[in-house]
Amino acid sequence: MAVTGKQKSVWFCTNCGNEYPKWMGRCPACGEWNTIVEKKIESGGKFRGGMPVSGHGPRPLNEIDSGADDRISLNNNELDRILGGGMVRGSLVLIGGEPGIGKSTLSLQIPLANPSLKTLYVTGEESERQVKMRADRLEGDASNCQIYSETSIEDIVGQARELMPDLMIVDSVQTMFTEMADSAPGSVTQIKEVASRLLRLAKETGIPIILIGHITKEGYIAGPKILEHIVDVVLQFEGENRGAYRILRSIKNRFGSTSELAVFEMTGHGLRQVENPSELLIPMHEAGLSGTAISAMMDGTRPFLFEVQALVSSAVYGTAQRSATGFDARRLNMLLAVLEKRAGFKLAQKDVFLNMAGGLRVSDPACDLAVVSAVLSSNFDFPIQETYCFAGEVGLSGEIRPVSQVDRRVMEAERLGFGKIFISSFSSSDFKPKKISVVKAADIPALVKALFRE
Ligand code: TYD
Ligand code: MG
Repeated sequence: MAVTGKQKSVWFCTNCGNEYPKWMGRCPACGEWNTIVEKKIESGGKFRGGMPVSGHGPRPLNEIDSGADDRISLNNNELDRILGGGMVRGSLVLIGGEPGIGKSTLSLQIPLANPSLKTLYVTGEESERQVKMRADRLEGDASNCQIYSETSIEDIVGQARELMPDLMIVDSVQTMFTEMADSAPGSVTQIKEVASRLLRLAKETGIPIILIGHITKEGYIAGPKILEHIVDVVLQFEGENRGAYRILRSIKNRFGSTSELAVFEMTGHGLRQVENPSELLIPMHEAGLSGTAISAMMDGTRPFLFEVQALVSSAVYGTAQRSATGFDARRLNMLLAVLEKRAGFKLAQKDVFLNMAGGLRVSDPACDLAVVSAVLSSNFDFPIQETYCFAGEVGLSGEIRPVSQVDRRVMEAERLGFGKIFISSFSSSDFKPKKISVVKAADIPALVKALFRE
């Protein structure tokens, strides 16, 4: 680290956030050119990034109090669950999402639902009156919530130390700035500095902080991924603006699982928790439509069922189109190739469109079986009975592979009144279902036989 006189500098990459002791033309970490910029560090003290250090030497691990059980409930089951059982004191939680998705609404609902928590709501984006107008639409008790319209992080940290709230919300990181850096609010230097200051505040005072951040079109939080490294928890708000459903996904969680997701519905009075997503993500159209199949998927600890929709039609132009919404397009191509090569379905000249209902984005491999079934159903124009559902991964040789926690999926399907669930022959299951019948298939031809030629 260069030390000249009273001021020190570090250089860091505006794309990936890596730090270097000197300037370079190209970032060795991410390979981008001209992204390394200088950052001046105030004199006095060592540059220590965002985390406050303990100030004493090494200590035995088993004597250190983790503080992780010191959680506060936000009086919102979905949020508490996705955070891993409430918000950890002194944690910095980032809620990211596109503009208009409901980040401000969700975070304002927290103090309204928790009058016992003294909350400091910092708004840099909207005026006090705008916040008040929003609060009037929502239900709850605003008596213990302080609204602070400010964008200077120095002033905000000062106020927080004075007020010592039980919870703090900062909306949004892009509007905040520090006087210590020259660049404009929203720039990488500013965002990094603002988040580090808030992290330090959280760790030093124990105040849990919710930080709101906009996501750019590319899906990055604040452009580069810098923020994700700094904060303890990253929750991402997703959903189609047209639809009312919003999914909050945990991307990073230092205090819990990252496979959780929470579902909300935007209503005229704010976001409503959807505690049983299956009932909402399941079809709303008439029965007997081809091209749909229900998948029994897991989101972390919770099973839920939702609809996969496919449309297969003859390609009008030379090359067939393939498009997938909410599902990995490469995975769709792989599944189509398996259908063609291993099961003999001629799909090369067909357009294939795939959609996950409810604006959901799916990465559970157990969804493969429903995708394949929906594609075949559309291709044959043969509807799948609406009481059937699927849970299985499809391998390259057309085999149907077992999936994790198959019992939980079968149980959930049974609970929701499904009549049949299709799973892999290789699944080992101890669960003895009473009402639902479990159909086991070893490969695609066996599935087709069971599904369409019964
Ligand atoms: P907002 O929380 O402002 O989004 P963000 O902070 O992520 O930019 O929510 C914006 C949308 O939500 C806006 O289009 C209006 C709608 N909305 C409702 O439908 N019902 C409500 O009760 C509220 C407060 C907002
Ligand atoms: Mg907002």
